[in-house]
Amino acid sequence: MTKSFPSPSSDAIRNDLLSLVKSVRGQVLDADRLYVAVDCKRPSPAPKIKSDGRDRAEAFHALSLEAAKCRQCPLAQTRKNVVFGAGSLSAQVVFVGEAPGADEDEQGLPFVGKAGQLLTNIITAMGLTRKEVYICNILKCRPPGNRTPLPEEIRLCEAFLKRQLSLIAPQIICALGSVAAKALLRTETPISALRGRFQLYEGIKLMPTYHPAYLLRNPSAKKQVWEDVQLIMKEIGPGGRS
Ligand code: URA
Repeated sequence: MTKSFPSPSSDAIRNDLLSLVKSVRGQVLDADRLYVAVDCKRPSPAPKIKSDGRDRAEAFHALSLEAAKCRQCPLAQTRKNVVFGAGSLSAQVVFVGEAPGADEDEQGLPFVGKAGQLLTNIITAMGLTRKEVYICNILKCRPPGNRTPLPEEIRLCEAFLKRQLSLIAPQIICALGSVAAKALLRTETPISALRGRFQLYEGIKLMPTYHPAYLLRNPSAKKQVWEDVQLIMKEIGPGGRS
């Protein structure tokens, strides 16, 4: 004779389900309390690397909105606009400068002043357009009087750039000037010693070169920048994706 176990009553099943729901709810509430307790925001979902165009555009848009309302450091009090970046989200080459200046702060766009004009000339000489590359900065807000970014400002702003680069996943990053090269490569080596050779940033080839503003003061260094960008052009080959 087979022994049958008493089947649980529907009340017992309902009670089991209710206590399960309550305990899960408790854990979710605890997770919320944890974020409040340590005084930090819930991190946004991790970006998809090499996401398709629409995912990437959506994630980028969400990130730019986050940056637009960022008040993590005192630069938020003096900026006119957050200068997030501009260009193609599927760019092969991303140019990273130091921080917005007065013109950029006014217009909310990177490299639109005198140094920006020179950067445009460099990009054109590479056979590309500003629309085909992506241009951004280490800092998204202008330091008052264009002073050099402070290490703490770089640290607080870094997550935005990191996510921009991971979403675009370019073939090459061109670090413009000492601040960008040192921040990305976590080095104190001078730009004069870093330039001219590819370095690696999170698996992406990075070419450090002189900042266009430096070239305005030292036109003789244009020759070296031209050598550096030629190495980039060789790397991306003719007819690169945009
Ligand atoms: N210098 C920079 O480093 N970035 C800009 O956007 C403009 C000038």
